[in-house]
Amino acid sequence: MAKIPPGVGPRFPQVVLLFGATGDLARRKLLPGLYHLVSAGFIPGCRIIGVSLDEITADAFRTLTRGALDEFFQRKVTDRDWAAFAQSLDYVPLAAGPAALRAAAERAEATFSGESRRLHYLSVPPSSALAAVRMLGEAQLVERSRIVMEKPFGTDLASSVALNSKLHEVFAEEQIFRIDHFLGKEPAQNILAFRFANGLFEPIWNRMFIDHVQIDVPETLGLGKRSAFYEQTGAYRDMVVTHLFQILGFMAMEPPTSLEPQPISEEKNKVFRSMLAIQPSDVVRGQYNGYRDEPGVDPQSETETFIALKCYIDNWRWAGVPFFLRTGKRLAEGQRIISIAFREPPKSMFPPGSGVGAQGPDHLTFDLADASKMSLSFYGKRPGPGMRLDKLSLQFAMNDTGLLGEVLEAYERLILDAMRGDHTLFTTAEGIERLWQVSMPLLESPPPVRLYEPGSWGPKSIHQLIAPHAWRLPFERAWRNPNKTGS
Ligand code: BG6
Repeated sequence: MAKIPPGVGPRFPQVVLLFGATGDLARRKLLPGLYHLVSAGFIPGCRIIGVSLDEITADAFRTLTRGALDEFFQRKVTDRDWAAFAQSLDYVPLAAGPAALRAAAERAEATFSGESRRLHYLSVPPSSALAAVRMLGEAQLVERSRIVMEKPFGTDLASSVALNSKLHEVFAEEQIFRIDHFLGKEPAQNILAFRFANGLFEPIWNRMFIDHVQIDVPETLGLGKRSAFYEQTGAYRDMVVTHLFQILGFMAMEPPTSLEPQPISEEKNKVFRSMLAIQPSDVVRGQYNGYRDEPGVDPQSETETFIALKCYIDNWRWAGVPFFLRTGKRLAEGQRIISIAFREPPKSMFPPGSGVGAQGPDHLTFDLADASKMSLSFYGKRPGPGMRLDKLSLQFAMNDTGLLGEVLEAYERLILDAMRGDHTLFTTAEGIERLWQVSMPLLESPPPVRLYEPGSWGPKSIHQLIAPHAWRLPFERAWRNPNKTGS
């Protein structure tokens, strides 16, 4: 195991109260993530108390956790680490009430010899979040604690303002960590490194040189067991107002005065403040054929499982540059890319038929997968007689560094940051409220949903939305396979 550098983990042992502990996110990400952080030595001591509506025992919770690790943990679970982790798990059913919660937290704290901190993780739907917050208040577990809230933070402007003000009745803003796991992805932070650690690209990072930007996150996944949640949420609230806009914030912000939480939030919030309201005429809402037959879905549902839209940031850097965003379920491919299209040269001296411009403008593309990749495509001369041009690319893959094993999964990274009290990669109440504000014209008059076939790229009108440009996906040429030499 690599040695953990000092300052990466929290100073004090942690008691984690995990609300929604038997749910999908806890099983897929949070329990495996906590296991990794604990077993790799990132946390100096950790006890986890599962909380949920399920009336199960602590032993049943241990069995559930082991099942989650076997199914979703990407690395190896060793007998020794598991035995220690299993011992640190406890469980309190919600119905047992605040006193039982308090008692469990005290039992956990008593196992540490010195000071400890509490991390409350609310992996619950928006409708249950406030009840959990109130319960924590009644259990007097607010002191020495931080609270991680899952999105969506409200469902529109009024509900997000109300949620924030209720939350502030119990927790102070500096205790609150609103998580957006896209910001915990290694490649999202790499956008900051790429932009601000290099002199090459920042000078052309503006409307003079950039023609348009695409943030495209198609998913092949369907709903799994989440139809009840999804019916209330839809693609816009689930993905755009959260993940895609946050990525847009990193891509578009001005250089912060430092890499501290406050300056980064300020710059991101300035981007959101400059965003023009989303116009329903710039939006395509889609629903895959068959969605209405899924269990738990209203047969007349108007919930969108797909959304594509055009938006603008009306400031000096970006005025007039369209940002195209797209995401949806049951699409042809699972991808997460940001693609930046540069303006074409003012004059072409290449003969007709040479191929210049034939494959779109030159692009810089970031792949936001954990094993992130980056590609810069450009026109170059095809070897041989005459002047024929081909689209070529310079590509980088994280695989090339041999450090892929060091990547922390997005949730792991963010849980660790919350335990350390570092807000850099979390969103703020102000930013979120502004994003709901620009969303209101769309939420108030959503265009009708258009059907699309599962396995396609969405309704046909996505092409009109982006014309005269074209969607980068599907790629004409696949990413180079970094494991294959000579490719
Ligand atoms: C979640 C959404 O926040 O992000 C899901 O609720 C979506 O609907 C998921 O599938 C995508 O995240 P990732 O990390 O798999 O790209």
